[in-house]
Amino acid sequence: MSGWEAAADLVVVGSGVAGLTAALDAAEAGLRVVVVTKDSADAGSTGWAQGGVAVVLGDVAGDSVAAHVEDTLAAGGGLCDPAAVRAILADGPAAVARLRARGARFDGPDARPDRTREGGHSAFRVVHAGGDATGAEVERALVAAAGDRRLPLLTGHVAVDALLDARGTLAGLAVLDDAGRPGVLRTPAVLLATGGYGQLYASTTNPETATGDGVALALRAGATAADLEFVQFHPTVLYTGPAVGRRPLVTEAVRGEGAVLRDRTGRAFMAGVHPLADLAPRDVVSAAISRTLAESGAVCVFLDATALPGFGRRFPTVTAACRAAGVDPTTEPIPVTPAAHYSCGGVVTDLHGRTGVPGLYAAGEVARTGLHGANRLASNSLLEGLVMGERVVAAVLGDRAAGRPAPGPAVAPPPAVPIAPRGVVQRAMTAAAGIGRSASGLAAASDVVEAATALSVPCDRAGVEDAALTLLAQAVLAAAGGRTESRGCHLRTDFPARDDTWQRESLPIGLDATGRAVVLPALATTKGSAA
Ligand code: SIN
Repeated sequence: MSGWEAAADLVVVGSGVAGLTAALDAAEAGLRVVVVTKDSADAGSTGWAQGGVAVVLGDVAGDSVAAHVEDTLAAGGGLCDPAAVRAILADGPAAVARLRARGARFDGPDARPDRTREGGHSAFRVVHAGGDATGAEVERALVAAAGDRRLPLLTGHVAVDALLDARGTLAGLAVLDDAGRPGVLRTPAVLLATGGYGQLYASTTNPETATGDGVALALRAGATAADLEFVQFHPTVLYTGPAVGRRPLVTEAVRGEGAVLRDRTGRAFMAGVHPLADLAPRDVVSAAISRTLAESGAVCVFLDATALPGFGRRFPTVTAACRAAGVDPTTEPIPVTPAAHYSCGGVVTDLHGRTGVPGLYAAGEVARTGLHGANRLASNSLLEGLVMGERVVAAVLGDRAAGRPAPGPAVAPPPAVPIAPRGVVQRAMTAAAGIGRSASGLAAASDVVEAATALSVPCDRAGVEDAALTLLAQAVLAAAGGRTESRGCHLRTDFPARDDTWQRESLPIGLDATGRAVVLPALATTKGSAA
């Protein structure tokens, strides 16, 4: 790849909570940082987060980090890495304090911010901003801090491939601009903070940027991914009829503050499904809604928030979305349905964001640290982004200080990659790899994607995204087919029970010699270096 060349100590791909936190910390530590983002700086998933940041600040009677750990492990369905859960949650209060020092304002008095509760939490511990616009406030504060620091932001550039030297050490990053013009950033360190892959599905809470680019890039570079089958479906997005693309979220905090899910006859169907009823972990609620829809033939269920006082003030984002759809949430139940929301798995990293490829790091939704297991606890994601954004910079600095040999000349990666049309991929994944999967459905989806796939050279952002979605479809289908049990967000209709022989290990995903995503024999984690 020819075109322009530039050099940096650290290239951060993505400008959400993890990416900007890391970039700011790295710049403060004196590193030459460049942030690469394929859209505008605020176009990623962070800005869409509503509920808040789950964190124990020590001022809620009866709550503790140990209780937050317990709730996270319970939601994760036996697949969390307890050491990761303890370490990340313990770092939460300090990370939130630094975010506030960077200008983020939470609702309530500064000395004691307001708290809400979401599914799976045993306490009111979720801080929020702008009522239900927490992600927007976090993004605003970090983008403003990046501006104040004059962080170099390369917007409108999509990351294509990690460039490796002959030893497999990271030597740079190949990018394309909006017009498809190539460029190369020479660097010994790339942090992937690219978010998830909700756009694999026709209906999602994720923005258009969530196409799995980081996982695909890391797999092609030789890293391992895991837990990819655990795609979390948010139970409540506003139902406005059949549509493709991002749907407005109705934050779980609405249920946290008393709203009740009802079927079309008005029955509160979560009672008796789980001891926490409407506040059960998300996987439980989404599965119950899917069952209710399948049994009744209805297209949506209803979230009844009519008894909540001050709804418009507390939930301005949800209120605006409802009103735009002709629904008054203060007088009528909100029509809702589940939609793809969060990728619990991702690129396997240690607790400082190191992947298996020297010089390649990952943080935030793109990464699999072991915090989420089979189902992420609500509002643990912004927290993970803050904490891991900080931890990864410590690793980059430590790895530089350890005197790793400078990378040699980069070996060009193969230019052509498998690409299937996005619509084919989304329809196949929606039909077979949503809530309720079976061996026959997964195999049929795999056949459909395979038949539509051809080798091609991505020459613009859409091509890079389509290549990523194609690889992610292969990977999720392989992982979902391999896990012959139901656990967390992974619900198999042909294996409806949890099977504890599966509790041992996450399913590792890598590429075979032909570049196809496959389940690997053993999980090549970097767990030993976790600290
Ligand atoms: C929500 O507000 O319901 C979403 C928050 C999250 O996904 O953690």
